[in-house]
Amino acid sequence: MSETGRILLDFDGDRRNIHAYEQAGGYASLRSALGMEAADVVATVDTSGLRGRGGAGFPTGRKASFLPKGRTPAYLCVNADESEPGTFKDREIMLRNPHALIEGILIMSYAMSATSAFIYIRGEYRTEFEVLKRALEEAHSRGYVGRNVLGSGYDATIVLHRGAGAYICGEETALLTSLEGERGQPRSKPPFPAIAGLYAAPTLVNNVETLASVPFIVKMGGEAYAAVGTERSKGTRVFSLSGNVKRPGNYELPLTATLRDLIEGHGGGMPEGRTMKAIIPGGSSTPLLMPDQLDTGLDYESIAAAGSMAGSGAVVVIDDRTCMVQLALRVAEFYRHESCGKCTPCREGTKWGTDVVRRIEDGSARQGEVDLLLNVCDRILGKNLCPLGDAFAMPIASYVTHFREEFQRHIDEGGCPFVEQSPIASLYHDVSGVPA
Ligand SMILES: Cc1cc2nc3c(=O)[nH]c(=O)nc-3n(C[C@H](O)[C@H](O)[C@H](O)COP(=O)(O)O)c2cc1C
Ligand code: SF4
Repeated sequence: MSETGRILLDFDGDRRNIHAYEQAGGYASLRSALGMEAADVVATVDTSGLRGRGGAGFPTGRKASFLPKGRTPAYLCVNADESEPGTFKDREIMLRNPHALIEGILIMSYAMSATSAFIYIRGEYRTEFEVLKRALEEAHSRGYVGRNVLGSGYDATIVLHRGAGAYICGEETALLTSLEGERGQPRSKPPFPAIAGLYAAPTLVNNVETLASVPFIVKMGGEAYAAVGTERSKGTRVFSLSGNVKRPGNYELPLTATLRDLIEGHGGGMPEGRTMKAIIPGGSSTPLLMPDQLDTGLDYESIAAAGSMAGSGAVVVIDDRTCMVQLALRVAEFYRHESCGKCTPCREGTKWGTDVVRRIEDGSARQGEVDLLLNVCDRILGKNLCPLGDAFAMPIASYVTHFREEFQRHIDEGGCPFVEQSPIASLYHDVSGVPA
């Protein structure tokens, strides 16, 4: 790791062009990996301690080791759906360092003996799609993708597939169903994708950032990567910082950093004259942390111990101008809209819960509806096929728990008491500033 503390995005500008990437040592890790036994490549990733950057933080090497050996076909699916509000880091990786992703895909495909890899990219990411398409063509022309990669005898196929704008298609089994051409809805697990995934074949699903980290792990060695970070959260992570901060953007930090390092050190702290009200630490589906928890580490364990989740790595800062009921309404409406409708508690509960929040915000709620809202959240939590229902219930319940008097005031005063509104509309906008 260099002095910047970055691994994945340790350069200025971009490396879209394959020559720029090769000059920086790109595709050397692929060469090394092809000279290793596939099982040793998986072992290297396992030793690194890399955990999935898509949300759940599952150890990447361990997940790859679940695939039954020698069963063909087997597939690698890349989750480039990036739809959790507040999250825009995969976008920056694909735009600035697309070949790191392609090289990571090739290394993992070889390691798991995949017959094909599929990149499922969020439909709205048109420029990212074009950049990846071009990068894949370049990689093909240089012999990294296609038949007999670099004379190794290994054939690699990578298919780029655009989604159609559904958040639920980021959930791994919905993603696979959508790839198969069906309506994107989650499947029951087990069987897990490692046993029966795409077209019922063994399948590994990994996030963009997870896979783009793999070439660096092969280059550094598993132990060196594991030396960065905490005991159980290894390496660096790209955090998407947004909301009420002076310098929003993506910041890659070692997992020893704290929320304070990110928000104050890199983000420049709050806008002039403002005070912090709360922090969303891992995307809009995660419960709030409070300003007195600023010294919490950004690693998976510390955020969990503080009462929330590291999630997608999207940190949203909320200042004193923000009406928490308005914010709750915004979040609730998102999940209500994105519920795929398969499970009753999620389909009905996100609608009912959103209606209650809207009544509280517009002043038409009756006394007792704050408790009714908590009750609706409780009836959704943990009762569904996939975690989207929880993604509604957990944050909304946490807004009510931490800011109950604010919700109650809306009822008592017959409407929103906030005169000066926060630039809340910008909270979930992409602020990465990456040139398109
Ligand atoms: C509703 C929902 C949406 C999700 N959206 C994404 C997403 O956009 N990108 C992503 O990488 N993972 C997303 N996930 C997590 C994936 O299901 C899966 O855990 C991840 O792609 C595994 O890759 P990883 O191990 O590299 O993190 C989502 C999960 C849920 C429940
Ligand atoms: S929890 Fe919601 S989004 Fe997930 S499968 Fe059930 S209805 Fe669909």
